[in-house]
Amino acid sequence: MLSRRRQSCAPGDRRGVIRSGVLENGWWASRTLPTVGFMDLEMRSFAPSSAVLADEPASAEFLRAVELGFHGAGPGEETIRRWLADMLRNDARLRAMYDHDTGGFRDPDDPVGTFLSYDKTVGFGDGVLLPADAITDVTVRATHRRRGILRSLMTTDLAVAHDRGLPLAALTVSESGIYRRFGFGPAAVSHQVTLRTDRSFALDVPTSGRVEMTSRADYLAHADTVFDEFHRRTAGSVSRSQGLTDALAGVFDHHTGKPDEAVRHALHIDDTGVPTGSVTWKVDDDSSTATVRDFVAVTPEANLALWDFLGHLDLITTVVRRRTPVEDPLRYALREPDVYEVSARGDFLWLRVLDVARVLEARTYLVDGEVTLTVVDDQGFTGGTYRLAVSKGAATVERTRDADTDVTLDVAALGSAVLGGVPVAALAGAGRIHGAAVDELARLLVTLRAPVSLTPF
Ligand SMILES: CC(C)(COP(=O)(O)OP(=O)(O)OC[C@H]1O[C@@H](n2cnc3c(N)ncnc32)[C@H](O)[C@@H]1OP(=O)(O)O)[C@@H](O)C(=O)NCCC(=O)NCCS
Repeated sequence: MLSRRRQSCAPGDRRGVIRSGVLENGWWASRTLPTVGFMDLEMRSFAPSSAVLADEPASAEFLRAVELGFHGAGPGEETIRRWLADMLRNDARLRAMYDHDTGGFRDPDDPVGTFLSYDKTVGFGDGVLLPADAITDVTVRATHRRRGILRSLMTTDLAVAHDRGLPLAALTVSESGIYRRFGFGPAAVSHQVTLRTDRSFALDVPTSGRVEMTSRADYLAHADTVFDEFHRRTAGSVSRSQGLTDALAGVFDHHTGKPDEAVRHALHIDDTGVPTGSVTWKVDDDSSTATVRDFVAVTPEANLALWDFLGHLDLITTVVRRRTPVEDPLRYALREPDVYEVSARGDFLWLRVLDVARVLEARTYLVDGEVTLTVVDDQGFTGGTYRLAVSKGAATVERTRDADTDVTLDVAALGSAVLGGVPVAALAGAGRIHGAAVDELARLLVTLRAPVSLTPF
């Protein structure tokens, strides 16, 4: 049994403390948070400093609260230990809300709200990686919802990220209606593909390189290198933690606390002997469906060869792959394209721009041009008018006091459009971008490829 211990805010991080709904000691002090009801709230921000369970009771309670929020079975001690080690490697920031008004029925040190962030990078293509505040483990206890706890945690975290000079925040969502109000826009779409792999499955183009089924250890010896190369090249890609790579490879099963021996591994090696693709999968209980856990292809050749390999697994008649790029070339390489069904579509990666100039200057452009855009940001981080000038594929962005603006958009729409994941024309049609130069902005923001993220977090 873990000992429970009160943990106070680390010195120097007092800005995050709230009491009875009002932030003390610093930013937002003048803002009354929209909390109601019988609550005596305190926000604590802390970071795990040890992977030893007994040293980290507050972190362990945090993870238990996350499990509660997502209706999980509750993390075992080995799961907490591994999570702690991963949080240490990631320099994770834990923000938890406590309600001291327990009526004597609850432990006041059990968080009623959880929120975790750490620094990751987001690919902008061509080797450009921008640092981002990656947000996850957002939960509020069922008894404490809709009283502003998420809003308090999010406002604090974004303010800290902005203060630290991070140009972006990123998250993936379980419900799509929550985050636009905080300035996040869906930025990279992903498909779930269900592939029929009976006799009608065949490619009518040649594949190249070779595919090797490997042990878990041999797979792991190359998986990071393959992913890192993919990440460097791909707009929309989000860097991975060791814990995620391990989980996708079956090193550790979150539910059992043991390795998952049912996970299989394969690598694609190109004609020069370099690993350029990696895949892990599991065969479901029905023994005829293979569910892909991870699929990383650095090149189109690796993509086709890995799909071809999966499509020819004996005894398997269906392959299901989530997190498939929307522009997957496989469909166009199949002899019978209708074996490829998009069974679900999701707005996988959401981005929140915190620095308009850095984000727009990080990407490359296919055409030159100039647009003055006004960004509306209800939270006050980026609002203002900017002149975007593109010359020879590179952008310069300057704030301007010029009252003449060509285009107006909210910061969430900018997050959707910046990597080309959502066309400007679609956002304009949805009423989220307007002004005389919408078409010019649409022309400027066109990209060669849709952004791709393969990183759940
Ligand atoms: C989603 C969750 C964290 C919201 O927490 P909360 O403390 O109730 O949220 P708040 O009271 O701070 O609400 C902030 C705003 O978001 C809105 N909102 C909250 N949850 C929402 C939801 N599920 N769908 C749509 N809007 C939502 C509120 O109406 C409020 O809007 P407003 O401030 O513009 O009036 C909570 O319901 C939860 O833990 N859900 C289960 C786990 C989960 O889904 N986590 C999200 C992972 S992506």
